[in-house]
Amino acid sequence: MRSLLPKVALIIPAAGSGERFGAPIPKALVQLNGRTLIEHAILNLGSLAAQIIVAAPAGFEDQFKNLLGDAVTVVTGGSTRTKSVKIALESIDPEVEYILVHDAARPLASTELGEQVIAALLTGEVAVIPALSVADTIKEVDASNYVVLTPNRERLRAVQTPQGFARETLTKAHTQNIEATDDGSLVEAMRGKVKLITGEDRALKITNPEDLASALKYLVPAVAADIRTGVGIDAHAFSSDPKRELWLAGLRWENEIGVDGHSDGDVAAHAICDALFAAANLGDLGSNFGSAKPEYAGASGARLLSETLKLITSAGFAIQNISVQIIGNRPKIGPHRLAAIAKISQALGGAKVSVSATTTDGLGLTGEGKGIGAIATALIIRSESLLK
Ligand code: CTP
Ligand code: MG
Repeated sequence: MRSLLPKVALIIPAAGSGERFGAPIPKALVQLNGRTLIEHAILNLGSLAAQIIVAAPAGFEDQFKNLLGDAVTVVTGGSTRTKSVKIALESIDPEVEYILVHDAARPLASTELGEQVIAALLTGEVAVIPALSVADTIKEVDASNYVVLTPNRERLRAVQTPQGFARETLTKAHTQNIEATDDGSLVEAMRGKVKLITGEDRALKITNPEDLASALKYLVPAVAADIRTGVGIDAHAFSSDPKRELWLAGLRWENEIGVDGHSDGDVAAHAICDALFAAANLGDLGSNFGSAKPEYAGASGARLLSETLKLITSAGFAIQNISVQIIGNRPKIGPHRLAAIAKISQALGGAKVSVSATTTDGLGLTGEGKGIGAIATALIIRSESLLK
């Protein structure tokens, strides 16, 4: 199975305790969507290597062996990351020419990234590390938190793993007996040439518990069970009062006659609220904002959307997207579609929203021009369950 590039070995330092993560088990054994971090890492990069060596925390060697099977060599890691890699190096097969070193804490680095690292090694580079440019300005500080230096951000990179090395380069780098948080630094310390290639967002490091939620977004199809959908419909008749204002999709529509109703009669907003409540199984517009809650009497569509967002958010849900279709002969939606989308999205905390419109071939309340209807769907995801 792992015979594509027989001269490559993969070393995975996984012996850290994960102090910042704070779980009662080593971080490499933490679950991400049904698999441990170390299993994810091997699943993504294992196929590139003829030999896989994992440095496990002392006392957990058997658990790692049972989990990873015979194809993986498990060694007891050291007290630092550098020491763990150095110990793993002692078990490298004689015929290995290239070595990938990869943090168990970066479970989703892709096979493609590993391939690109190897491809650069094959062109003659001796040390290849994936890196991304940094968005923040970075300061160096002294022990009292005073700024010492602000390096030019354009020239800064945040580095990731897998980092690839010619075997001799990595072995020699580890004879220096210095400590570093990555292996590239060790090569740099002996004035070796370290080549950067473009890294990837999905190679993010799991350091704190919240990082699991960030990682999960790259595995979304596999968490489909946590995704819920809901539908909502509303309709109102046009008012006989020609002065009544029309409010629709959170906007006031000039030169249009409004609809009857206690509220502002915003059928698009109401349909969306109902779709969100339905998806979250939290009742409906009436049970949440009806006559039993006089504080909502006459509330605008935009306000009801915001209140609905608060309710579904505190129940642990996040909105994936909202789609609403407005049904009626008028007003014409097209010219104001973007404004309607912006208004609804704003009321829903920046959610993805689409707005469409249709007529009904002269049939029914909407077709006869007697009123406006709307139908909405909501897709929501339970955000709490992302952290489990
Ligand atoms: N690592 C290791 N041996 C150590 C320390 C760390 O093999 N003595 C590994 C970790 O398991 C991890 C990688 O080095 O895969 C990167 O380290 P980091 O993300 O800092 O993990 P931890 O050291 O476990 O976390 P913390 O620093 O929060 O304790
Ligand atoms: Mg650490």
